[in-house]
Amino acid sequence: MEREALLALARQVALRAHCPYSHFHVGAALIAGGKTYVGVNIEISSYGLTLCAERSALAAALSDGAGPITAIAVACIDATPDAPLGARTPCGACRQWIADLAPEAVIFIDGAERDFHIPDLLPHAFGF
Ligand code: THU
Repeated sequence: MEREALLALARQVALRAHCPYSHFHVGAALIAGGKTYVGVNIEISSYGLTLCAERSALAAALSDGAGPITAIAVACIDATPDAPLGARTPCGACRQWIADLAPEAVIFIDGAERDFHIPDLLPHAFGF
């Protein structure tokens, strides 16, 4: 699946985000071993236990026994067009998950002018 198609899927699944508190819908779509997996942010009443879209998609892929993750697309569909890049990029926790679980993946950010790899987003990432 090409870049634009993966981003389109991320935007589409973002509509299914469970975000009654922030109303900030995020979708993620990734390619692993030739298969596609999606995730959305899931907020619960104990806010700190919220699950981001990226980690949701990574968990889906790992749970399915997926192969290596080669591409991840993220769409923050409620970010305004003039919002800074930081309103669209993965949070710190998700960066660590990507560093651990998808270190080679190209990361497509909806609305960004360039693509990323994890060293761009999390230099000197912790890891065993
Ligand atoms: N969110 C994500 O899903 N991914 C990120 O990387 C950043 C933040 C979600 C968490 C919360 O549900 C909402 O966006 C607002 O922070």
